[in-house]
Amino acid sequence: MSVTPTNIEHEVKTVDIVVSKGDEAGNVTYANPIFFKLSGYTQAELLEQPHSLLRHPDMPKLIFKFLWDTIKTGKDIKAFVKNLCKDRGFYWVLAHVRVAKNPDGSFRNYVSTRRGMSAGARAIIEPLYKQLLEAENIGGMEASLPILETFLKEHGGSLDTFNETMQKIQKS
Ligand SMILES: Cc1cc2nc3c(=O)[nH]c(=O)nc-3n(C[C@H](O)[C@H](O)[C@H](O)COP(=O)(O)O)c2cc1C
Repeated sequence: MSVTPTNIEHEVKTVDIVVSKGDEAGNVTYANPIFFKLSGYTQAELLEQPHSLLRHPDMPKLIFKFLWDTIKTGKDIKAFVKNLCKDRGFYWVLAHVRVAKNPDGSFRNYVSTRRGMSAGARAIIEPLYKQLLEAENIGGMEASLPILETFLKEHGGSLDTFNETMQKIQKS
């Protein structure tokens, strides 16, 4: 989907926790009031729609591939996400996406809990995502993966310790 975003930024307050839940395909099955308020969508517009409705064109593909690869194995992921609002504005969050299970161990849903991104993290992540996106526009995710790996290494981590590195960056 091709969209023309605007530079209108929607503030995520320190106290805000932006929650949504999704089915196995990533369709929204629940969202909390702050999620609707921030995104500008009504329940009728958002529920049962894919989470990719919020996809901002500034987001590198690789981050979502890594997100899905991770949650599909049952592990959780922490990732910075720039989301698109209905008015084509945006907001940044640190999303924590995990798998919730039923008492019998079967899949229940995916749950994403998002908090505002720190200014320090923004200064680090925005240029990284720009670089990843530029690489993807030329050579796809094959080109952006080594850039992400080098970045993680420079921050003392790797793909295996992605969450810890993102948490550390959030505190910077
Ligand atoms: C629980 C859950 C929450 C998600 N939240 C977002 C989100 O806030 N923004 C977003 O762009 N993608 C989110 N995604 C990822 C989307 O499913 C999708 O992979 C992404 O928007 C990229 O779209 P594409 O896979 O069609 O390229 C979420 C996925 C799950 C399972």
